[in-house]
Amino acid sequence: MHKKHNFGAGPCILPSSVMEQAAQAVINWGGMGLSILEVSHRSPEFEDVVLKTQLLVRELLSVPDHYAVLFLQGGASTQFAMVPMNFLSAGKKAAYLDTGYFAQKALKEAKLFGEVEIVASSKDKDYAYIPVEFNNDKQAAYLHCTSNNTIEGTEIFDFSTAGAPLICDMSSDIFSREINITDFDLIYAGAQKNMGPAGMTLVIAKNEFINQAKKEIPSMMDYRIFRDNMSMYNTPPVFSIYVAMLNLLWLKDQGGVSGIAQKNIEKAKLLYAEIDRNPLFYGTADVEHRSRMNVTFLAINKDVEAEFLKFAANLGIVGIKGYRTVGGFRASLYNALPLSSVEVLVNAMASFEKAYSDKIVLELE
Ligand SMILES: Cc1ncc(COP(=O)(O)O)c(C=O)c1O
Repeated sequence: MHKKHNFGAGPCILPSSVMEQAAQAVINWGGMGLSILEVSHRSPEFEDVVLKTQLLVRELLSVPDHYAVLFLQGGASTQFAMVPMNFLSAGKKAAYLDTGYFAQKALKEAKLFGEVEIVASSKDKDYAYIPVEFNNDKQAAYLHCTSNNTIEGTEIFDFSTAGAPLICDMSSDIFSREINITDFDLIYAGAQKNMGPAGMTLVIAKNEFINQAKKEIPSMMDYRIFRDNMSMYNTPPVFSIYVAMLNLLWLKDQGGVSGIAQKNIEKAKLLYAEIDRNPLFYGTADVEHRSRMNVTFLAINKDVEAEFLKFAANLGIVGIKGYRTVGGFRASLYNALPLSSVEVLVNAMASFEKAYSDKIVLELE
């Protein structure tokens, strides 16, 4: 059982049943008399884990057969470079949607490999919205977007754009809602939010797109090599993949992605309603682009911010401090966070409002 209400942005809360099974497997995996940490990745037992995990990804996200499912390493940050290294060829331009901190990091890496065009940016308003009007030039090598901006608290809800092949960083909202895989040519996501522990990066990519990658690519950065070796060109992140399998089985039990999406909508609605109601706090993202995974908000002054952080910590609420460059609060509502934790946070905000106004009245008397 989790003792704290963990609103951390990642690594983040995972279901306690998954933790228990993972802990057991570290001691004695499946009664084999071996730990999951000491079993060969070439053993039939582990090959079975990789296969099952791939099948779960396919089933939960309805991934068609002409897409590959890969488990890589190096986090989403390695994908920032791997994507242009594979797909940004000479004479072509890569198009980027600049929607925040991680989008910026992605395009910075791409510049090392060729010409990059920022087709739209929300920097003018501190990334509080998602630009919707831009020119999607089909001559571009690809268009890169970030479906959920973990730091700024904005999310893309409509991916219907015709033009260049679409590549998406889905690190912080994959498996949180239904998506249409065929809208994308390549999706990548660090595992450490809704998939499992850090250490593994999920890539889902159209085979035909992978086949178009440049030829002179170092093996560890070559999507083809990982596809053709069942993600086991080298030693894979065994434990991370194993726990992801357990977590995806848990997700299936929750009614899959459509089931969890309903719960995620309910959690986000509840918290945003309190932010909009409570005079001590206000949201930072434009209402129509508010993220359901990372809820960003500010206090009316620094005093309230510091006091509420302490007040919340006393109630076992952790991980709500905003990103270091942004400040304020960020409550992450990933799949494993129960509605009851959001209720605790919302009640804390309301009780704090009462305590704070009583204190002001006392000070005035
Ligand atoms: C949207 C997004 N992209 C990329 C990253 C970087 O991921 P990693 O730490 O796995 O490299 C993060 C991390 O939080 C993220 O939220």
